[in-house]
Amino acid sequence: MIVLIGFMGAGKSTVGRLLGQRLNMPFVDSDAVIEEESGRAIAEIFDTSGEAGFRDIEEDVIGRLLTGPPSVVSLGGGACGRVATRARLAGHTVVYLAVDLAEARRRVGTGGGRPLARGAGLEELYAGRLRQYEECATISCDTTGRTPEDIVDDIATALREDDQP
Ligand code: S3P
Repeated sequence: MIVLIGFMGAGKSTVGRLLGQRLNMPFVDSDAVIEEESGRAIAEIFDTSGEAGFRDIEEDVIGRLLTGPPSVVSLGGGACGRVATRARLAGHTVVYLAVDLAEARRRVGTGGGRPLARGAGLEELYAGRLRQYEECATISCDTTGRTPEDIVDDIATALREDDQP
């Protein structure tokens, strides 16, 4: 399994889709699965069940995706906050797409359906998560100022190096 993690706006879904094509592997986005299975938008789940309710659903969906067929899987930016999810990532190839806060803000814009990007506190959220991403990652890739194609090239190279005896 190749898992993409990182903050909102890191490009996990865009890069994940391209990486899947490059590696000839299916691509799956945990947020898309959550929305599809529940029939509700992420923002609606936050509104009705709160963040904790969303995190429970997210943990369950990710648990299933990580034991499913080999795929490129992108996780929501807050997924690594759950201990169970961090434990389940062990043994997988986990690619951390790093982005600086200013660029994440630019890419996310006014939120685009992301409840946690709407209000204040983004800086604190960002600072609190960096260590989690770094701890989970087996490969790190800086995305700031770079195109998705460039990033995919880097990841493909790192994956080949990973495979060397
Ligand atoms: C979240 C990030 C979102 C989505 C939800 C919560 C977060 O995913 O899971 O809005 O806590 O950072 P993206 O990182 O794909 O935007």
